[in-house]
Amino acid sequence: MINTKKAQDYFKKNSKNFIEQLARFVAIPSISSDSAHTKDVDRSANSVAAYMRSIGLEHVEILQVRGGKPAVYGDWLHASTKTSTSPTLLLYAHHDVQPTGEHNKWKTEPFKAVKKGDRLYGRGAADDKGGLMMHLAAIASYLKTKKKLPVNVKCLFEGEEEIGSPTLVKLLTKYRKKLEADVMVLSDTENYAADIPGITIQLRGLISCHISISALEKPVHSGGWGGPIPDPALAMAKLLAKLTDGNGRMAIPNVYEDVELLSSEQRALLKKLPFDLNKFRKHAGVLEDVELVRQGDATPHEMIWHLPSLSVNVIQVSSRAQASNVIMDSAWAQIGIRLVPNMMPEKVIKLLDDFLKKNVEKGFRLDVKMDHVLPPWKTSIEHPAFRAAERALKKGYGKEPVYMGCGGSIGFVEPFAKALKAPALLIGVEDPETAAHSWNESLHLGGWQKGVVSMIELLGELAESSK
Ligand code: BES
Ligand code: MN
Repeated sequence: MINTKKAQDYFKKNSKNFIEQLARFVAIPSISSDSAHTKDVDRSANSVAAYMRSIGLEHVEILQVRGGKPAVYGDWLHASTKTSTSPTLLLYAHHDVQPTGEHNKWKTEPFKAVKKGDRLYGRGAADDKGGLMMHLAAIASYLKTKKKLPVNVKCLFEGEEEIGSPTLVKLLTKYRKKLEADVMVLSDTENYAADIPGITIQLRGLISCHISISALEKPVHSGGWGGPIPDPALAMAKLLAKLTDGNGRMAIPNVYEDVELLSSEQRALLKKLPFDLNKFRKHAGVLEDVELVRQGDATPHEMIWHLPSLSVNVIQVSSRAQASNVIMDSAWAQIGIRLVPNMMPEKVIKLLDDFLKKNVEKGFRLDVKMDHVLPPWKTSIEHPAFRAAERALKKGYGKEPVYMGCGGSIGFVEPFAKALKAPALLIGVEDPETAAHSWNESLHLGGWQKGVVSMIELLGELAESSK
């Protein structure tokens, strides 16, 4: 058995320092979607790299391909001895973050990590700088005390996850040899609750689509011209309204064709998970008099994990600040379709494109452009690495982990799993109260500490399980 005690003790004694380091990462606004923050994403990569060097990781360097954002690589590959070889893990997280949204809705400054009660507030505190720091705190705790790790590790911390990983496959192709590994461990997903660990075995895919409807060269006075002049805002509203039916199901013909229905055993298992509807509503921030969307007897988790969904992320036609009596020249929208396993992105893109062209009101100019497209992913849990993860999480949290789906998407998983033919363990530090992508994002510090303890155990368990 690998002795993890020294590393665990070191982590417990120093967890305050690790949280301070996390706060230094949060202080850098590494917003990948905003070109005004390009330098900050670079700065974030450099600061992650410097910290990795300081804890004893080797070959630390920035990996970047043309047009892409900086990923940080670093490794420690001395676990094998003359008599035994050790497996190599690829540890993944991302150091880029989402924009803040309305700044004045934050109760604390988004890029200043602030501890309140059990939680650390700040953009990226959980998604995914908290996840990144879970890997690094575990590694540091071994290297500081035992001067070695029980397994070989390679770290890859991406800088463009939140914009759909546009150059990640290029990076994989270019650095294939360097990134080769036996098992991948990601920390960019959610636990079932802050104190109930989760192993995510399914991700939804995503088709993000930009729709523009235009009719005029410029906005015109709605009194002087209203009547004969077509209104792109109304046309957009009508088109978007046709996309779903009264139950929130997509109204695009044939789009559900490939969705795998759950077996009655799977549904029974889902129903066994502890679930509190009021808490669910509270965590999502659903207003008191507002009803949830229902599809047949599917539970909220079934809908989020196992069914596709469509949402409108942006509608832009003038703005409140510029409101005036005009007919606008054009309207713009972004919609996102979450795909579940077995749905094929190319097919759904074609169905969506045809639907939009067929349903837009006559007489307008329609322009449809796909933004990011990520396939769904799912894994079997047969590989012994999953037993190792079960044991490690049980030790860290004192509770059996739950096998979960995830409604979100992570560009890394499908292409890397395919190319490296390595199992992917998705264990993370977000929880239902995290508010990722929203205002007042936060990390549950107790959950995060249990996550690091589990990660320390996982490195040991994976060393053992490959013997
Ligand atoms: N950490 C999230 C993935 C996630 C979502 C985990 C929900 C748990 C619950 C990840 O950083 C993310 O937000 N991914 C984006 C990818 C997109 C930009 C291609 C997403 O799902 O929207
Ligand atoms: Mn994330």
